[in-house]
Formats: sequence, C-alpha cells, structure tokens
Amino acid sequence: MYNFRFSIPTTIYFGKGQISHLSELSDYGSKVLLVYGGGSIKRNGIYDTAMKIMNDAGLTVMELPGVEPNPRIETVRKGVDLCKKEQIDMVLAIGGGSTIDCAKAVAAGAAYDGDAWDLVLDPSKITGALPIFSVLTIAATGSEMDKFAVISDMTKNEKWGTCAEAMKPTMSILDPEYTYSVSRRQTAAGTADMMSHTFENYFTKEPGCDVQQRFAEGLLKTMIKYGPVALKEPDNYDARANLMWAASHAINGLISDGSKPTWCVHPMEHELSAFYDITHGEGLAILTPVWMEFVLRKDPSVVRNFAEYGRNVWGLSGEDEAKIAKDAIAKTRTFLFETMGLPSNLRAVGIDSTENFETMAAKAARKSVGSFVPLTRRDIVEIYQAAF
Ligand code: NZQ
Ligand code: ZN
Repeated sequence: MYNFRFSIPTTIYFGKGQISHLSELSDYGSKVLLVYGGGSIKRNGIYDTAMKIMNDAGLTVMELPGVEPNPRIETVRKGVDLCKKEQIDMVLAIGGGSTIDCAKAVAAGAAYDGDAWDLVLDPSKITGALPIFSVLTIAATGSEMDKFAVISDMTKNEKWGTCAEAMKPTMSILDPEYTYSVSRRQTAAGTADMMSHTFENYFTKEPGCDVQQRFAEGLLKTMIKYGPVALKEPDNYDARANLMWAASHAINGLISDGSKPTWCVHPMEHELSAFYDITHGEGLAILTPVWMEFVLRKDPSVVRNFAEYGRNVWGLSGEDEAKIAKDAIAKTRTFLFETMGLPSNLRAVGIDSTENFETMAAKAARKSVGSFVPLTRRDIVEIYQAAF
C-alpha cells in the first residue's frame, strides 16, 4: 500500500429534511450564486424550498440556470463573469454531477485571473475557489464529495476532468427523497457510473490494499442490490439512500487512496461524450464488459482479479479461476443490459459511424498509461469497434 493523505473536508448532511442546513450558508457571506440545470429542481419543488431557507437566512441569491448534462465551458464562463461582477461570496449547486461540476469550475474560475478553460486543461492553475455547496439530486458521479469537475468544449470535441483540493465542496446535502423523481433511464445510468468508479479503483495490481478492496466489493454489492429496486420502486427510501451513499464513497478516495489506480474506461467514455454528447453512465455501461473481456484476453494474469470479483461480489464458487472470471463478466453484462435495461452498444445511443474512433482512441490512450492493463491506441479502437 502506498503512502497517502486522506482528507474529505466536506460536511455531509444526509437524510430527510436536511436542506434546512442551507441556512448555514450565511456563515460564509451574504451573496450566493445558485447554479442549476434544465429545470428539474423547479418541477420537484426543491428550488422553492431552498429559496425560502436562503431568503429567511438573509442571503441574496443570484442565479445561473440551464447547466447542460455534460456541462459546457460557455456556461462556466457566464458564471465566472457573474461572480466577478456581482462580488459573489459562495456558489451553491442544486442538481446532479453536471451542475455540481459546473459550480466547481465557476468557483475556481472566480478566483482566477484568466479564462476558465485554462483550469480545465491544467489543474495546477487552480490556486483557490469560492466556497462550494451542493444539494445533490441524483446518485451517480460522487461530485458532491470529491475534487473533480468535468467540463466540455463541444466546439472542439473536448471533454476533460480537472481536479483540485480547493474544489472539494464545503458542505453537501444528500436527501435521498430528492432522487425519487429521477427517471428510470437516469437511475440506471447513475448506477452504471457509480459501479464504473468502483471498478476503476478496484481493478488494480497493487497488492496489500485489502481494506480498499473489501470496501469496494461492499459498495458494488450494494449497488447491485439496490439499483434494480430503485428502478421498480422509485420512491423506495432505502434503495435511494444506499445508492446515494455508495456513490459518494466510490470516488472520494476511500477505495483508491493507497493503491494509485489509473482509470481507463472513463477516458474512453469521455471521448464518446465529447464527440457525441451521450449520457456518461450509458457510455460506461456499454464499454465496461467489452473492456473487461479485452483486458482479460490481453493480460491473462488478471484472471486472479476477475475471479476474486466473481467470488466476492457475485458469490461464484469453484476451483477454475478462468471460468469464474468469465462468469463474473457475463453476470456484469446481464446486470447492466438486462436487469438495469441500459443500452448495450454504441449504435443504441445514436453513434452510427466509426469515423472518429481513431481520433478518440489517440486521445484516450494518453490517459491509459500505467493503468491496470495499459491500453494502446490500437487496443482502444478495437474496444470501440467491439462496443459498436
Ligand atoms: O438538468 P436537470 O433539469 O436538473 O435534469 C437532470 C439531467 O437532465 C436530471 N436530473 C437530475 N436530478 C433529477 C433529475 N431529473 C429529475 N429529478 C431529479 N431529482 O438528470 C439529468 C442528468 O443530470 P446530470 O447532472 O448530467 O447527471 P450526472 O449526475 O450523471 O452527471 C454527469 C456529468 O458528471 C460528469 C460526467 O462526465 C457528466 O458530465 N462526471 C463527473 C465526475 C466528478 N465530478 O467526479 C466523475 C464522473 O466520472 C463523471 O465524469
Ligand atoms: Zn463517471
């Protein structure tokens, strides 16, 4: 296990009615920039509740609405301009990962003397940020408790993740009831995303990280148990609560610190989103089983990892490691595509040509160096083609 520094400065208020803690924002100043998406928070009433609490606390609220799924740099720039012009004290995101990521980039951009895109390309330029708060409305990315923000410039087909300690939220409110209104499709995509975060951290060759590995298996079992329940019963509190809390821990360092994983399915998916603006979790679901099969073929030594996954997550048994590994991947496939009803190939999400695969693979390959099984540009083209 490598040395590490584990630090989560985010205060979490978890459960029903915890939104009342928004009144604590007045400890951080008087002017809030409220960042939100396409309107779900107005339809389900969270907007009105939040506004009342903040008004009662004497806060002045300015708004940045309309954050896109796969948030755009143009929206970030708008937010940064507002912060600078109105001397905003803090940024509050109410929504999903896209909204929170946009709010983080705005908060960092407000403390930077230059174009916010610089901060997306070069995290070392993030030297500070306004305090960031979030009310999470969909269980998926873990942005509510991590240091990452993923921003797109669709004019250049670029989507990159940036990160900084300064972008870890100060406080996040996680009320599982707020996720009751998430659609079947987004519930499934969110479950695939949190599972992918867990896989990216779990599949590593670093020995001796038993704590991280066993935590990861517990998270995966929880996601596999409750994803289908949330689809069938959208207002099942325990299902929504467990998914929400599992998603936060999949990416906050708990299961990755100490084993230095390098993610590689995410870079491949980010290229799909950058070129085709698809839903992140759906892209991950399509790529994951194909990636698993590919790396098992390319590097047979990882059969151990997949057999361990099969035994500890899926309860498979027997002496034949190769068989357990194969069966575990088959179980993953069935879970994502049949149980959760996620799209199973790239054509199903509207990608009808292979013309960009080479360009996308070249970009994704730069990120895959040093991963569990490093992938070359050729390998990635092959994975895209198999997923097509
Ligand atoms: O925009 P609104 O109207 O709010 O609707 C959203 C959006 O259409 C809707 N939604 C959210 N909460 C809802 C709801 N609809 C009804 N009821 C609710 N309670 O769901 C749709 C998707 O929202 P979005 O925020 O895009 O989803 P998600 O949380 O999956 O975020 C995806 C983005 O996060 C990035 C992805 O790349 C993508 O850009 N990621 C961020 C990460 C991070 N910060 O750590 C890591 C991830 O790997 C990921 O890359
Ligand atoms: Zn993700």
